Amino acid sequence: MAAFFAAVLFLLVLSPIITVYSLNQAVYSSTSAYNCKSYTVPLRNISAPSFNLTFEIKTQWDITDWTINEARRDSATAFNGIAGPSTVAGDFDISARFCTPSKLTERAETVLVMTHGAGGDKTYWDPTFAGGEQYSLVQAALAAGYSVFHYDRLGAGQSTKADPHSVVQFPIQVEILALLTQLLLAPSSPYTLNVSIASAVHFGYSYGSFITAALASKYPELTQAISLTGYSGIFDYFNIFIAGWQSRVATLLDSTRWGDLRTGYVTPVDIYADAYSQFKSPYFDHSVVEWASSGRSPYAIGELATLGQMPYDTSNFNKPVQVFQGHYDLAACGGNCDSVLNRTALLWPKASPLNITGTFPAGHAVNLHHNASLAFAAMLDFVKRNIKVAGNLLFDPA
Ligand SMILES: *[C@@H]1O[C@H](CO)[C@@H](O)[C@H](O)[C@H]1NC(C)=O
Ligand SMILES: *[C@@H]1O[C@H](CO)[C@@H](O)[C@H](O)[C@H]1NC(C)=O
Ligand SMILES: *[C@@H]1O[C@H](CO)[C@@H](O)[C@H](O)[C@H]1NC(C)=O
Ligand SMILES: *[C@@H]1O[C@H](CO)[C@@H](O)[C@H](O)[C@H]1NC(C)=O
Ligand SMILES: *[C@@H]1O[C@H](CO)[C@@H](O)[C@H](O)[C@H]1NC(C)=O
Ligand SMILES: *[C@@H]1O[C@H](CO)[C@@H](O)[C@H](O)[C@H]1NC(C)=O
Repeated sequence: MAAFFAAVLFLLVLSPIITVYSLNQAVYSSTSAYNCKSYTVPLRNISAPSFNLTFEIKTQWDITDWTINEARRDSATAFNGIAGPSTVAGDFDISARFCTPSKLTERAETVLVMTHGAGGDKTYWDPTFAGGEQYSLVQAALAAGYSVFHYDRLGAGQSTKADPHSVVQFPIQVEILALLTQLLLAPSSPYTLNVSIASAVHFGYSYGSFITAALASKYPELTQAISLTGYSGIFDYFNIFIAGWQSRVATLLDSTRWGDLRTGYVTPVDIYADAYSQFKSPYFDHSVVEWASSGRSPYAIGELATLGQMPYDTSNFNKPVQVFQGHYDLAACGGNCDSVLNRTALLWPKASPLNITGTFPAGHAVNLHHNASLAFAAMLDFVKRNIKVAGNLLFDPA
């Protein structure tokens, strides 16, 4: 299918704030090592392929039955929830944050573009609780010299909460990631604190990994390498994940917190359902799940319904691919990645190099487990080894 996106306004809105990085005042005081800018990217008249769904989630009964349909052992043939193909178009505001080291080296010309999973938002990459920096891939990447862009996907965090059935679906998330990448790579981009970005490396977590894999398949020219976590590319274990996730209509579950969301936005029923799907004892601190759960951003039902409906062919991507897996990942590996990830390798036959690791002691949310710094070192080592810096121009002449 062709690309449908069109006009993009290069406008900065909502009074972009230039901030000194100050997650932890004690560590990052006024002599900050990083510069960051939070902004909204207005995407206008964006269009993408979409799907009409056969169902609508209005009540807790609806989402409970949907869970059964997705979890039953024959769900692949008995239920797909798709009525037929369509297209979607609209204006969307994407909330994002760009950071770059204060002391620029050539590495800063490479931006690491990070796409979060379903049910979370961009803070997955840069946790905001006290002590959260040990779980921050953003800070690890900045310390290694790279620029970083992370954003709230459509329907999540501070980004537009579009129709959760017909609009917030898989294909448009892929188009949005492609557009954002183009904006970062554009000459004199208003989104990069005047750093001239020469190349992008894409990081994904969970649903964000599928989006990243699709971007690499459809727009290989936009990325130099990809690094995926919470991903095997295998759907065999999706049902035990869906079953235990126990989604509920967010606005009916907690109207104080989510009263402004339409009923197609759903969320795990409680903190333990969150822990079930993303964490593995004893490799995490409960306080981290408390933070993650308190910051939940309900996901659009259209996203899960359309994941896998539009095939993206990963078999021709010939750039570096890393899959860094928590050994006990439930959704991707059924709780044990042994003998699963060799099938993942078959999905990326031309990746060069292909580096798949499935031994790290963690569940799905690798970044939020103990020793995350070791995982970050492996991820950033992969980038360092496989990405050449352009080595020319650091700043826009303008
Ligand atoms: C929106 O994009 C479509 C193509 O996808 C185009 O036909 C249409 O003219 C555009 N509308 C505006 C207002 O730019
Ligand atoms: C999809 O929905 C749109 C809008 O309701 C409708 O015009 C179109 O005919 C539908 N397509 C299919 C295949 O059901
Ligand atoms: C970027 O460059 C422009 C033009 O030189 C300047 O006005 C602006 O302050 C710079 N922005 C930053 C964040 O350095
Ligand atoms: C993956 O490894 C397991 C265990 O070694 C083996 O049984 C299985 O056949 C392998 N699958 C593929 C696709 O190589
Ligand atoms: C991983 O974290 C645990 C708990 O913090 C610690 O006891 C262990 O030594 C760490 N392992 C490594 C290899 O650093
Ligand atoms: C794959 O990554 C691991 C962990 O970073 C590293 O030790 C190993 O050398 C890499 N293998 C290849 C073939 O690049």
